Amino acid sequence: MEVIAVKDDQEMSEKAASLIGAEIKDRPGIVLGLATGGTPEGTYREWINQAGSLPLSQLQTFNLDEYAGLSPDHPNSYHRYMKERLFQPLQLRPGQTHLPRGDAKDLQEEARRYEKQIQQSGGIDLQLLGIGENGHIGFNEPGSSFHSRTHVVELKPSTREANARFFESEEDVPHQAVTMGIATIMESRRILLLASGSRKKEALTALLEGKQTENFPASVLQNHPYVTIIADESALSGVS
Ligand code: F6R
Repeated sequence: MEVIAVKDDQEMSEKAASLIGAEIKDRPGIVLGLATGGTPEGTYREWINQAGSLPLSQLQTFNLDEYAGLSPDHPNSYHRYMKERLFQPLQLRPGQTHLPRGDAKDLQEEARRYEKQIQQSGGIDLQLLGIGENGHIGFNEPGSSFHSRTHVVELKPSTREANARFFESEEDVPHQAVTMGIATIMESRRILLLASGSRKKEALTALLEGKQTENFPASVLQNHPYVTIIADESALSGVS
């Protein structure tokens, strides 16, 4: 795993956006895996700033996850998050962007459909990841199988608590989500993991120095051939 150490969240976002931009220029038909949450917000802003010089009409995107029960236009859905922060500003066509439907009648079926759609696109070329304080990637919580494909998950109380800041109250945070599986993520050709702030210190230390275990899902990345981590000083402050 290559680690790029930066000063703060702003520098992390600039570097991440340049890396994504370079990948898009290299391969205009690229399939990108995207994340939500607080971590990639700056990256999306920087990406929009440099979008004028990028060929965007052929790329495809697949997001990692979506909350169960939320329709695409729900203010807290990841559909809405992506539309407002990236897809609309970049003027991507609806057919270029993909997220699992959290409001599907049969979520298990929706998970299978989404997994198949990723495979049919040829797989993810570059997957953007954040990391949960408990080591989750996507919504693959501790204990998830390293062999998992896109599936329905129960969110841990600590994850619902961490994400409550995006909702009116913690009770409003859904209990379930649909997420790409760990095996799905691991098939990406390249992975770009971002971490900033002291909240991520323990998780990043465990990722870089801990042992590999399903109790810390991100540790699976130790086996991936092409991982780039961009992390700021605070997130790296526990690493020896
Ligand atoms: C989001 C996702 C999650 C987040 C993680 C960190 O699509 O899949 O794994 O990356 O929960 O969230 P933030 O960035 O809000 O600290």
